[in-house]
Amino acid sequence: MTEPAHYLRRMVDELSSSGELTPEWRESFLSVPRHMFIPEIVWYQDLTIKDDNDLVPLRRAEDPETWLELAYAPRKALVTQVDDGCPVGPGLRGCTITSSASQPTVVARMLAALNLTPEMTVCEIGTGTGYNAALLAHYLGAHSVTTIELDPQIAAYARQTLAHVGYDGVTTVTGNGSHGYPSRAPYDRLLATCAPCRVPYPWVAQTRPGGQVVTPWETPYGAGGLLSLTVSDDGTATGTIIDNVAFMWLRDQRPPRASLCESVYNRDQASVTYTDLHPAYATNFDPAVAIALRVPHCRMICYSAIDDSEAFTVWFLDPSSRSWAKIDYESDADHYHVNQLGPRRLWDEVEAACRWWLQAGSPKAEQWTFTITPEGQRVNLVSCRS
Ligand SMILES: C[S@@+](CC[C@H](N)C(=O)[O-])C[C@H]1O[C@@H](n2cnc3c(N)ncnc32)[C@H](O)[C@@H]1O
Repeated sequence: MTEPAHYLRRMVDELSSSGELTPEWRESFLSVPRHMFIPEIVWYQDLTIKDDNDLVPLRRAEDPETWLELAYAPRKALVTQVDDGCPVGPGLRGCTITSSASQPTVVARMLAALNLTPEMTVCEIGTGTGYNAALLAHYLGAHSVTTIELDPQIAAYARQTLAHVGYDGVTTVTGNGSHGYPSRAPYDRLLATCAPCRVPYPWVAQTRPGGQVVTPWETPYGAGGLLSLTVSDDGTATGTIIDNVAFMWLRDQRPPRASLCESVYNRDQASVTYTDLHPAYATNFDPAVAIALRVPHCRMICYSAIDDSEAFTVWFLDPSSRSWAKIDYESDADHYHVNQLGPRRLWDEVEAACRWWLQAGSPKAEQWTFTITPEGQRVNLVSCRS
């Protein structure tokens, strides 16, 4: 059996050579044994399973080499909990990812985005395995790190692992991270590893003026990104999307589940129309951010054909109004087949948002400015009449 140290060095070398792991974080990544933070059971997606419960458990005891390989895979998130800890499928199979150890490459990019210096304090929202908190503790000293986890079982596991690995000075709080942790505020930096759609104001209030809030931002549509916000003296924070990342929801902002089998009904009664707008506009990062902001409560799911063709189908679902739509792409077509059903004409809304985006000069995701105030969140395109 290959030694964990071999996998650890291979992961760090790969992250360093891609430039994602910056030199100042290399020592921390080499010093924290990631596999010690990974629970005995992890889950992977099995695409051959045809129902919703396609997350299949992998037990370390049954396949230790694969488990270790996954623990040090630079570009894979490792699923560490499904269905809020109660797998809904047979044989511990799960339907929804509810905790994970984030991809090491994304961890490295987010840590670099914090612009930390050694005397700073950090509050992390979403402890998960505790791996990220351990990296922070190695870099800053454990007493400078506070981390908050909503799920009591996950928090207990992380607290225990952090202590075992030598970082018992980390303050691991069991609670709702949306409220922050005022007892140890103000922080120089706040880092979330679960995604809100609306950034909770306590994160801004508990960060020092001049400090930074770095958080993934998620939308029901499925477009999101990594936000970096700077806190001002007036207690507001402003910033932009700085990276393309996808994270699980901050649990208290999680939208209702929307699956094709539950949301798509009466397919033979759907209207049939055609459009010349390329369906890829609905899925590409920059237009998708604009659609997500202009078409509320709409979930987008894209499926590629399983044959060798380039065909794909994009679905749009709003279970609360019982509306759905789909558009089909085929490689040599110049107009595309659309089906819609329900009180909302979801494709028409998405198409209008795409055309607005094109008319606005095809703004990049990073051109949207986010402002967080005690009254809420505003998102504006600086140079655009909205
Ligand atoms: C992607 S995982 C975190 C990865 C983690 N930082 C690591 O190093 O393994 C996201 C975590 O956020 C937690 N979470 C979700 N909503 C939360 C909330 N409102 N407050 C605190 N934790 C939350 C989830 O339970 C989950 O464990």
